[in-house]
Amino acid sequence: MSKSILHTSLCDDFKIEHPVILAGMGVKGMATPPKLVAAVCNAGGMGVLGCSWLDHNEVRRRIRETRNLTDRPFGVDLLMPASMAEAVPDRAEVRARIQRDFPKHAAFARSLFDKFGLAHMTDDRAAMSAEFIRRQVDVCLEERIPLFVAGLGDPAWVVPMARQVGMKVMGLVGNVRNAERQAKAGVDYIIAQGYEAGGHTGRIANFPLIPMVVDAVKPVPVLAAGAIADGRTLVAGLALGAVGAWVGTAFLLAEESGIYPRHQEEIIIGAAEDFVITRAYTGKTARDYRNDVIKAWDESGLSPLPMPLQGVLMDDFIAAADAAGRAELINNPVGQIGGMLKRRRPARDIMMSMVQEAEQVLEQLSKVRVAR
Ligand SMILES: Cc1cc2nc3c(=O)[nH]c(=O)nc-3n(C[C@H](O)[C@H](O)[C@H](O)COP(=O)(O)O)c2cc1C
Repeated sequence: MSKSILHTSLCDDFKIEHPVILAGMGVKGMATPPKLVAAVCNAGGMGVLGCSWLDHNEVRRRIRETRNLTDRPFGVDLLMPASMAEAVPDRAEVRARIQRDFPKHAAFARSLFDKFGLAHMTDDRAAMSAEFIRRQVDVCLEERIPLFVAGLGDPAWVVPMARQVGMKVMGLVGNVRNAERQAKAGVDYIIAQGYEAGGHTGRIANFPLIPMVVDAVKPVPVLAAGAIADGRTLVAGLALGAVGAWVGTAFLLAEESGIYPRHQEEIIIGAAEDFVITRAYTGKTARDYRNDVIKAWDESGLSPLPMPLQGVLMDDFIAAADAAGRAELINNPVGQIGGMLKRRRPARDIMMSMVQEAEQVLEQLSKVRVAR
């Protein structure tokens, strides 16, 4: 088979056909389940399991399930806190600390249950302690997955261990300083994620961010992340110097995605300005579909607590909303490009139309003549 004009060094590195990677998206494992990851791999891209909140046994189970569905390479994405001070040793301990140090926040979060008619509940999931993250990483090393991705924080400590088992490491960044830090730590790829993106996001948009990161970390290759959902945006990422795209939001509407049907509806009806920046659910700036819970925090006069405190505070509320089937009260991370997406379809279709359109765009661009 002849190589596509989209073929880049990323394709050679991982032996994939298209320079498109499904972003690992956490959300309790709902956004990137094994069947979506495998579908993207089988369509010629590469899938990544978002495993940030899953305990190590579940991470292993998902890796093995994915292996049963595809023989192509795939990865695992974990949230590494920037410092282990952001890890949560124990939920009860953090709740007690919030109650003691931030009683107004604790009271406001409690009032949300009544405001939205939810029964009080506590989230019993294991906390993201340093030990919890360490065990997740150990599973990735033991299972010898081809790719490990660190969202948010600092993967420097994983790099030497990854080298030993032949696992590549990618680090996600939102500014040049973090890109330089990660390049120095030896990651194999930097993912530059712009302000447009869904989920936790920085303040710099893709047009300035990607070329600046490319220049700053050369020769470390860079992937473009944020608002890539069709051929035009894929080509734009490559034009800015990236060797591939890291795509999240566009795959939330895949038929294989496991997010709440209500959340898929919100993407379909949402305009770009409905995907807003908020710290209400996690304490770190994230882009989510606007909802009444975000509005309530905005109107409370309280500034959400820093990560990880705000997350622990709101996880109880999210657990209650989930138990009551009230997905409209749960955070729905989506990027601005959600405004362009209007229908659910198989992941293969999303991938193939992106790639085919990108090839057409490149073809057209090659014919452009500038009149002087
Ligand atoms: C629903 C959702 C969940 C996400 N969860 C994670 C995560 O757990 N870890 C991570 O590194 N990035 C996460 N992200 C960010 C993505 O990895 C990616 O950078 C982003 O989706 C790219 O922008 P786009 O959404 O415009 O395609 C998430 C994004 C979304 C939309």
